[in-house]
Amino acid sequence: MAHAPIEPPPYFDALLERLAQGDPEATAALGRHVHWGYWSDPDAVPLTGADYAVAAEELCRRVCDAAPVRDGMRVLDVGCGFGGTIASLNERFKHLDMTGVNIDPRQLARAAETVTAINGNRTTWIEADACALPFANDQFDVVLAVECVFHFPSRATFLAEASRVLKPGGRLALSDFVPSAEGLDALRKHDIGGSETRASYGTVDVLCAEPEYRALAQSAGFTAPTFEDITPHTLPTYKFIRSTAARWQAIGADAYVRTTRRLEVSSRVGWLRYVILSAGLGL
Ligand SMILES: C[S@@+](CC[C@H](N)C(=O)[O-])C[C@H]1O[C@@H](n2cnc3c(N)ncnc32)[C@H](O)[C@@H]1O
Repeated sequence: MAHAPIEPPPYFDALLERLAQGDPEATAALGRHVHWGYWSDPDAVPLTGADYAVAAEELCRRVCDAAPVRDGMRVLDVGCGFGGTIASLNERFKHLDMTGVNIDPRQLARAAETVTAINGNRTTWIEADACALPFANDQFDVVLAVECVFHFPSRATFLAEASRVLKPGGRLALSDFVPSAEGLDALRKHDIGGSETRASYGTVDVLCAEPEYRALAQSAGFTAPTFEDITPHTLPTYKFIRSTAARWQAIGADAYVRTTRRLEVSSRVGWLRYVILSAGLGL
């Protein structure tokens, strides 16, 4: 059966347009990483794009360190956006062989243009779906997926693919939105992945709670997955998004603002958690 082509999330249209116009604030904030930030002070108020970029870099490092990545490894970054995670690894490590995968050729073009391999590292950018990775078995030491698994067609299929392409003993680290047990029903009721979400953020599934996630990871062959809840440290993200939505009219569409508000409230009341998951394959 033929599958419908997978579209990149709609917010990338507006973001790419801003970047093409050379908007300095959008470029500083989201020209490298396109994900939530990590602040040690949950009450921080990010005022500028540069403030936001520091927190986004910190979140990326925390996911990479959860793997952990080490010099000389072969690393796959799935849903690689503009290549920010690979750019960060490129600056911190040497002799890495890094591959970024994305369904969006426009994002891959920006990654190829902005990330220049240094430190004896290598970079490769490939257009592909996270659920049909175009690699042979047992290729990578680490698979990363920073804040993108909720967009993928299936968590189970992605986890099985990650497991297949990892070498024995390889490691997976990702960040994702994971509902609490009490949050599941509430999130369903508030239609968190409904039409407004699809119109702004695209396909979003944040209804896989920890026990189900753990079971999916284990049936894909991962042992002892750990879930680190960093929600409080990500909350200043919403202050920044709110302030930019007011100023960046193009992505300040009502659906985007209301969806972000729903995510924020769900996170503040404890229904939705921002989690770093790490897990390994047996040898
Ligand atoms: C929130 S962005 C995160 C980007 C990047 N990981 C980062 O942290 O900057 C989500 C990314 O997932 C990508 N994506 C969505 N669905 C995908 C799929 N099925 N396969 C590969 N990438 C996908 C999007 O194009 C986008 O780059």
